[in-house]
Amino acid sequence: MMNDFEHNRASWNELTSLHIDSDFYDLEGFKKEKSSLNHIELEELGDITNKKLLHLQCHFGMDTLSLARLGAEVVGVDISDASINQAQQLSTELQISAKFIRSNIYDIEQHLDDQFDIVFTSYGAINWLNDLNKWAQIISRYLKPNGTFYMVEFHPFTYTLNDDAEIVDSYFKTTSLETTVESSYTDNSDVSKNNLKHIEWHHSLSEVLNSLISNGLSIEFLNEFPYQVYNCFPNLIEIEKGKWVSKKHGGKVPYMYSIKAIKI
Ligand SMILES: C[S@@+](CC[C@H](N)C(=O)[O-])C[C@H]1O[C@@H](n2cnc3c(N)ncnc32)[C@H](O)[C@@H]1O
Repeated sequence: MMNDFEHNRASWNELTSLHIDSDFYDLEGFKKEKSSLNHIELEELGDITNKKLLHLQCHFGMDTLSLARLGAEVVGVDISDASINQAQQLSTELQISAKFIRSNIYDIEQHLDDQFDIVFTSYGAINWLNDLNKWAQIISRYLKPNGTFYMVEFHPFTYTLNDDAEIVDSYFKTTSLETTVESSYTDNSDVSKNNLKHIEWHHSLSEVLNSLISNGLSIEFLNEFPYQVYNCFPNLIEIEKGKWVSKKHGGKVPYMYSIKAIKI
């Protein structure tokens, strides 16, 4: 029997090849020096020149390598074999120095013994993790004293909505959510025949903040955003370049949040 993480690993292995060819990820643009990072993390992270940076759940490495282009010494970790293979190939092809490790976040200590100035994670990461206390312990373990944790994520409110933007699910979910993958957020190609399963866990803002606080991180800021930077949820419209909102709720509800915290 495959466990939840093995199901997710198998489905991310399949989705990676779709993503590599997608307009959404625009790999060709990235190869021509376009950064894959958004204005939010670029502005909020600040100068990362010569910083040692650990990127949790790096997918196929575009953000990790974009961070390296800004001068950071980067390590990316991801559970997907296909993602890590592609990330390593990109690093070699583009001659951007980076180290990539294939591992479940929860097993990372078997592969990495180091400490970093920055631990970074972004957009669609923590919904793959069942235990945020363990996640925050790992973040704390890998930060140097006074090191910075930075995350930018989809707002948990988003996960209460159905495709018509009606609230159908509890904000305070306590159980995992299992779905059969029909298509990816990058395009509408039908992958339902592949019989892939996703198992996700949605976390409220208090759960995220309290896990960080109780593992020795001091919160510098929590920001919430009235738009999405990606067109990756149903029925969004673009109100300004790179700012997507629900047709139904406009800018009246939160779509993303970011947190910066310092290891005490
Ligand atoms: C939506 S993607 C990452 C988001 C990133 N911002 C991007 O779009 O490139 C989620 C990533 O989490 C990885 N992942 C899922 N569960 C994981 C786990 N337990 N440990 C490490 N990586 C995991 C998946 O393989 C996938 O690459």
